Amino acid sequence: MKFPTILLSTVIAACCQCAMALKPRTCGAPADAVPFYRAYNSPRIDHWYTYDVNALVSNGFNPQGWLLQNVLGLVFLTEEEGTAPLFHLYNSVVTDNFYTMNTSEVTAAQQNGYLINTNPVTVYIYPTQVCGSVPVYRLYSATGTDNFYTTSESERLDFITNEGYTDVEITGYVLPLGCTG
Ligand SMILES: *[C@@H]1O[C@H](CO)[C@@H](O)[C@H](O)[C@H]1NC(C)=O
Repeated sequence: MKFPTILLSTVIAACCQCAMALKPRTCGAPADAVPFYRAYNSPRIDHWYTYDVNALVSNGFNPQGWLLQNVLGLVFLTEEEGTAPLFHLYNSVVTDNFYTMNTSEVTAAQQNGYLINTNPVTVYIYPTQVCGSVPVYRLYSATGTDNFYTTSESERLDFITNEGYTDVEITGYVLPLGCTG
């Protein structure tokens, strides 16, 4: 496929400098990164993230109230250079999907009724801001018992100001959209 020169340079500039900043021995291959989709269930007040959007549709999530919203960023399906597991836990009693890289938090969540979910797979992200990655902000709503993740600074502020969420931490770092092949 051939792109006009101007368009191509725009794409490269928007591509988180990964093409130039990439250090082969310390970064995962951007071409391997896949979209990590975000779905929301309004009756349950629960945000759920998965790379497997087909499972979301074919497993009948929409009849249960799940709606696909957007893409958090790009993640890896295997542990590439510089990455570590983003653990996924789920608590069916409070209907909350919870994601963390912190093994102490995994243990604490397990003691609070959360179970580790490796279906379909555990995904991998960067624990520090390297290789052109961007922060994943984690927010929490106590009234909704909802862990919410976004890479959008404006959305983060909107959820704090208008939706009753509070800042918790930066969970890790994902590649922005446009950083894949
Ligand atoms: C992991 O979580 C524990 C418990 O919340 C916290 O004390 C610790 O600082 C966290 N570690 C990192 C690296 O964020």
